Amino acid sequence: MNGSSSAPRHLAVFGAGYVGLVSAACLAWLGHEVVCVDSQPRRLRQLRRGRLPFHEPLLGELLQEQLRTGRLRFSSSARAAVNHGDVLFIAVGTPTAADGAAELGQVMQVADDIGRHMPGPRQVVMKSTVPVGTGERVRQRIRERLAQRGACWALAVASNPEFLREGLAVQDFLRPERVVAGSDDARLLELLRELHAPLLSAQRPFLAMDLRSAELCKYAANVMLAARLSLMNELALLAEGLGADIEQVREGLGRDPRIGPLFLRAGCGFGGSCLPKDLRALRHSAAILGHATPMLDAIAASNERMVGLLEARVCEALGEDLRGRCIAVWGLAFKPQTDDVRESPALALVRALSLRGAQVQAYDPMAGAAALEALGELPGFQLAGSALEALQQADALLLVTDWPQFAALPGEALRARLRGALVLDGRNALDGPQLAAAGLQYRGIGRAVAKAVVPPVEAWPQAPAGRPTQEAPACAWPRRSDHAVSARLAG
Ligand SMILES: NC(=O)c1ccc[n+]([C@@H]2O[C@H](COP(=O)([O-])OP(=O)(O)OC[C@H]3O[C@@H](n4cnc5c(N)ncnc54)[C@H](O)[C@@H]3O)[C@@H](O)[C@H]2O)c1
Repeated sequence: MNGSSSAPRHLAVFGAGYVGLVSAACLAWLGHEVVCVDSQPRRLRQLRRGRLPFHEPLLGELLQEQLRTGRLRFSSSARAAVNHGDVLFIAVGTPTAADGAAELGQVMQVADDIGRHMPGPRQVVMKSTVPVGTGERVRQRIRERLAQRGACWALAVASNPEFLREGLAVQDFLRPERVVAGSDDARLLELLRELHAPLLSAQRPFLAMDLRSAELCKYAANVMLAARLSLMNELALLAEGLGADIEQVREGLGRDPRIGPLFLRAGCGFGGSCLPKDLRALRHSAAILGHATPMLDAIAASNERMVGLLEARVCEALGEDLRGRCIAVWGLAFKPQTDDVRESPALALVRALSLRGAQVQAYDPMAGAAALEALGELPGFQLAGSALEALQQADALLLVTDWPQFAALPGEALRARLRGALVLDGRNALDGPQLAAAGLQYRGIGRAVAKAVVPPVEAWPQAPAGRPTQEAPACAWPRRSDHAVSARLAG
């Protein structure tokens, strides 16, 4: 089966991670001959046997199907890939360097490989998220390597940033909201439009632009999403103080067409391999330019604060010294439907609890092995075999990743296994009233459980009669003195 693209082409994809593997398999599905190259021999062995190196819905079936057609092949040889592909996609990692910049070692390694092996004209397409200007650097680097060989082949470079979401990656690739492509080479842009043609429609447009704008577009999208989340988190904490419920506020906000309903869920911080990293990289680019970025800086600071929220709330309830305490943690992946634990708030929480001496019993339907590998030998940390097993004799339950199966468990089952009664829901995923009815002490984020700390309107000072009020009465948000957590968060 394939997606019937018009002209089958020879393509190569560098990197068999989330973006590279999904791109390679989907491009093969569209009818192209694809060689996917990766630097990890173990990963390649797995892939050739039709086994995924990570969890991603639909990708396993697609991989096996496209291996059978022979249109998708895997190689460890950059030379073989560059020989095969007229169009070379770069989809390797761009992790954070020590100074916050995007670390471009993997990208430049691929550029070197391309320059060393190019047997004729080639078109290079960047799918990795890279700082503005990287496309030009890659072109320069390839030309330098060509020059070292005395070669001078035509070379076109484009940015075609990827917007897929882990857990929905295949669907996102094959049904993109838009395809962004940037280049100063009109023929390469036309070729990219043609490659994506079966996926495009009036509602799913191809947006051709210049190279730098396409590069920035990806960062702009990610920091916009991060900003929405951080603003909702801040509103959620405010809602707690004011005695309002952020879930009801979310409903009221999301139905405004200027705002829209997505990415409005308050929670205990965002993580993953993209949002925090791309936020840091964009701030770093701005710093090099000497541009102030107060908004971006605030998003980062706000998210760090949120990632520490559940730890602060555990300490508020159980004390700062957690030796002898057992804490159940539900969810280790940075979000549901993936086993990716990169920058997962759950891992930060587990480390923090372990440092305080707690025993941590964690369960994740998919990410247990990845978490064990990432956490290494962590005192007091153990994986449970099920969500309910994680609760055995625990003093508190902390939900960090909102896998839907957690919400399906009845409050009585939780109550029967927990030693304590505290349930901290870091994603507002559980049924608070049902848990409370089962005798548990439920606390979400931004839910109307806390007593309002701002006096009701009738108690506010009245403006003197006859004089119009110039400004609203000054309202200093009182800090709850009994709340260690407020003090910690404010600090
Ligand atoms: N993961 C996502 O949801 C997502 C979404 C959009 C964009 N992105 C961006 O796409 C890029 C890739 O992300 P990812 O999550 O797929 O990364 P990843 O770490 O999962 O995969 C990168 C792959 O590249 C391979 N690799 C490294 N150097 C190589 C080389 N020289 N030659 C061949 N292969 C090499 C690695 O072995 C690895 O398999 C990043 O820039 C990321 O920011 C990621």
